[in-house]
Amino acid sequence: MLDLFADEAPWIEPLADGAVILRRFASADAQALIAQISELAAASPFRQMVTPGGYTMSVAMTNCGEVGWTTDHHGYLYSPIDPLTSQPWPAMPTLFRTLSDGASKAAGYADFTPDACLINRYASGAKLSLHQDKDELNLQQPIVSVSLGLPAVFQFGGLKRNDPLKKVMLEHGDVVVWGGPSRLFYHGILPLKSGHHSATGEYRFNLTFRHTR
Ligand code: SIN
Ligand code: FE2
Repeated sequence: MLDLFADEAPWIEPLADGAVILRRFASADAQALIAQISELAAASPFRQMVTPGGYTMSVAMTNCGEVGWTTDHHGYLYSPIDPLTSQPWPAMPTLFRTLSDGASKAAGYADFTPDACLINRYASGAKLSLHQDKDELNLQQPIVSVSLGLPAVFQFGGLKRNDPLKKVMLEHGDVVVWGGPSRLFYHGILPLKSGHHSATGEYRFNLTFRHTR
């Protein structure tokens, strides 16, 4: 199908203090990113992690980079080893690095050096409850989050769980960057509406780049 918006120039939308949406920033790289996600998942497969409380997450996850976000009976942690394969996580592809570097700079954050990329896969109904990204030891660097495939509603609040939430639709190629005053703001994804996307079929993928140490 002819995609009239494939070459749309990116634009910036403010989201909160220290947070912006770089609309369509990843559009040009999207196909290559999706191909690389398949390769990474061949080495470290998507899996639905079980939280320390015994809840099976609806989002399927894997990682690439020096460390990956995972869970065990005690809590959440960044580990250099994939507990499913007992191997190191696959290395972060150059394109991932280039993209997160460009996005962080476009958002006003210089010198972002991610050592982890969490790869989320949402099928119909999958969601991510309101949470803070606080397992990183160093909170000076931002989070860079890339959306691919089916659209989803992203909620972005404040430092307190019950702060008012902004709801924004994240679409294929959109990149959200949050750091500085909003680095610990609560956020989440509402249950994915079923659909079909020409690039990802029935799924939404999300990449979140983090500097963990
Ligand atoms: C996350 O909070 O780690 C991911 C958010 C998203 O899927 O857009
Ligand atoms: Fe998060």
